[in-house]
Amino acid sequence: MKIVVLMGGDSSEREVSLVSGDQVAKALTENGHEVIKIDPAATKAEQTELNQTDKHWIGIEYPDTAILPLHRGSLYTKNILIIKRLKVDAVFNALHGGKGENGIVQGMLDACEIPYSGSGRIASMIAMEKDMTKFFFESNQLPVPDGIVFTKNSKITDIPDNLGYPLIVKPNDQGSTIGLHVVEKESDLRSAIEDAFKFGSKLIIEEYIPGREITVAILGDRALSIVEIKPKHSLYDYECKYTGGMSSYEAPADIEPTLTKHIQEISLKAHHVLGCRGYSRVDLRLTEKGKPYLLEVNTNPGMTGTSLVPKSAKAENINFNDLLEQIIKNARCD
Ligand SMILES: Nc1ncnc2c1ncn2[C@@H]1O[C@H](COP(=O)(O)OP(=O)(O)O)[C@@H](O)[C@H]1O
Ligand SMILES: [Mg+2]
Repeated sequence: MKIVVLMGGDSSEREVSLVSGDQVAKALTENGHEVIKIDPAATKAEQTELNQTDKHWIGIEYPDTAILPLHRGSLYTKNILIIKRLKVDAVFNALHGGKGENGIVQGMLDACEIPYSGSGRIASMIAMEKDMTKFFFESNQLPVPDGIVFTKNSKITDIPDNLGYPLIVKPNDQGSTIGLHVVEKESDLRSAIEDAFKFGSKLIIEEYIPGREITVAILGDRALSIVEIKPKHSLYDYECKYTGGMSSYEAPADIEPTLTKHIQEISLKAHHVLGCRGYSRVDLRLTEKGKPYLLEVNTNPGMTGTSLVPKSAKAENINFNDLLEQIIKNARCD
């Protein structure tokens, strides 16, 4: 197949996406495909450079918005049209966050009738908005942390007392724990809210779920092994996510079989009620008493060597190259 790997982009997860893209491109090439890497936020000269290197790396902290290729939005249209002209069989969308994961790129590819990996434009949009995700989950009897949507018009007094402390404050539409705060006491609330507003105009404020950090990869119509994440920090933050040695992982997680099955079932249902397809990764918290809470569905999850979906697949004896093969062969457009 002739495949374009879309990577980079102009979101705050750009660096992660460049690393995912390099590794996806390498594996698909090994699988015998003709692969071209395209950064939708890059100029023509930058595309050439992208295809001559695979030495991207992820910094310890999320990139300062000052170094992101801002005001590159118009390049997306040009670059998608270039893909159309290349007459590719499929696009592997390794973009994380922003336009690459929120349905915009999916919609552009739909309009050009280019099949792409993963979820379509509507599921991508819903999954990117944590408030919409929670609405779909709650209306389908799926367990979510109690909380509210906090806008610029909201008041601190709107936050129900029963949420207690610690509280989670997070932007509605970011990823990689960007702009997320665990607020231990009321006096820290205002500054956390102010910071989170730097990343979006809507926030989620919800109860903190103590317990274990788990995630479930969905491949095709199947939930794979549960992965437990044990971050060195109290939160699975940007540094723990992307710095080697800052988290340890267990796949399959040490969870008794009946509960494992239940968690896999609700994760698969979460994927389906949002209308996701192909693959995704469902993030959950699991309390000491064994009650799982769904946090979100990642429609374009990380695909680096140390990412969670490849770890989950490996626990099922599916190696990285086979995993990508299964994903790309299910590429679709609407
Ligand atoms: N309600 C919550 N209770 C406890 N921890 C949470 C809660 N919400 C988020 N977290 C922590 O923050 C991390 C990121 O939150 P998540 O909702 O998955 O957003 P994203 O990964 O898109 O930034 C989670 O993996 C978890 O460690
Ligand atoms: Mg998450």
